Amino acid sequence: MERRTIVSVVGARPQFIKASPVSKRLRRSFREMLVHTGQHYDLEMSGVFFRQLGIPAPDCSLGVGSKGHAEQTGEMMERLEDYLVSQSPDFVLVYGDTNSTLAGALTAAKLNLPVAHVEAGLRSFDMRMPEEVNRVVADRLSVILFAPTQTAVQNLSREGISDGVHRVGDVMLDALTEHIDAAQSSSRVLEEFGVAQGEYVVATVHRAANTDDPEALSRIVEILRASSMKVILPLHPRTREALKRSSLYGELEKAAHVALTAPLGYLDMLVLQKNAHAVITDSGGMQKEAYLLGVPCITLREETEWLETVADGWNTLVGTEVARAVDAIKSFRPATPRTDRFGKGDASERILAVFEDVLAEKRR
Ligand code: UD1
Repeated sequence: MERRTIVSVVGARPQFIKASPVSKRLRRSFREMLVHTGQHYDLEMSGVFFRQLGIPAPDCSLGVGSKGHAEQTGEMMERLEDYLVSQSPDFVLVYGDTNSTLAGALTAAKLNLPVAHVEAGLRSFDMRMPEEVNRVVADRLSVILFAPTQTAVQNLSREGISDGVHRVGDVMLDALTEHIDAAQSSSRVLEEFGVAQGEYVVATVHRAANTDDPEALSRIVEILRASSMKVILPLHPRTREALKRSSLYGELEKAAHVALTAPLGYLDMLVLQKNAHAVITDSGGMQKEAYLLGVPCITLREETEWLETVADGWNTLVGTEVARAVDAIKSFRPATPRTDRFGKGDASERILAVFEDVLAEKRR
């Protein structure tokens, strides 16, 4: 019998991580076609993830690249529409909350193709964040919603969405579980930076609210300069550009305890996080990875979609206030055990099982 087709749409760094365990499983039962929108295109933002995570090469590359929100999303939609028409898939699968997620969900919905969303139900309740807009729209358009946590299920229920919601756990835990051993045996990142366990913090910054606001960015630089510990700072290209527009990049370069570096691959980031004294970040994925690896997280935002990490005492939200952040680097230590609120590392198996059920149902 002809195999059912699922088109998966990815485009940005965190989506490569999320798709890696899922694609592998989907291909057992379905014809999965992987579309890369091209939102991230640098080797270190894209290629290295495909290689390290063993993701199959994209079946279709839209090659859209960096642009303003409307142009980027619009171009993705135009190109994706042609591809979806040519494939007429049984499902279109989107991940997370980027412009690639929005483009995938909206294009499919306009073609009356059913949409499934991995990481459904996340909310920051701040509609000024581009990601929040993307999530709300993707969830509204999806007929299958794979929620990672109970909080996500409740958020959807408050918006009147309960049909098609499946709490499957978090696919980033699947990816982490699959790769942590290989990361620890192959990565030389600690030697490269000359650090040992617990001697440093690893920091990342890329949210528009932090990079596009010169005052927020300058406070973040002050936090890192004032850190009592060595700081390893892999720079997202958008952050590097923002820092270079002012004197901030030079200030960081002058600080002997701050190691500036290009974005790092998945395996090096796992090892750097696992051995850090703390993770300092505005990334959603890293808040969660820090929790899963048992490392304290200091979040440079006033709110988070990953409330569980805060409720369990492993994540503290400090915004961009210098005194709060510097104090957290010195003294924030989690006092309570972690829980299994992100599941058991079998989210991608459960996603496969849901698709098998739903598509068998459709056939009948
Ligand atoms: C996007 C997502 C964000 C996600 C992040 C992960 C949206 C609205 N935002 O933000 O939710 O957390 O990805 O990293 O979709 N650039 C390069 N090379 C690349 C990619 C980007 O140089 O390979 C530079 C370009 O100058 C670009 C800027 O980074 O303008 C921003 O990239 P973009 O994809 O628009 O958004 P991100 O900030 O990466």
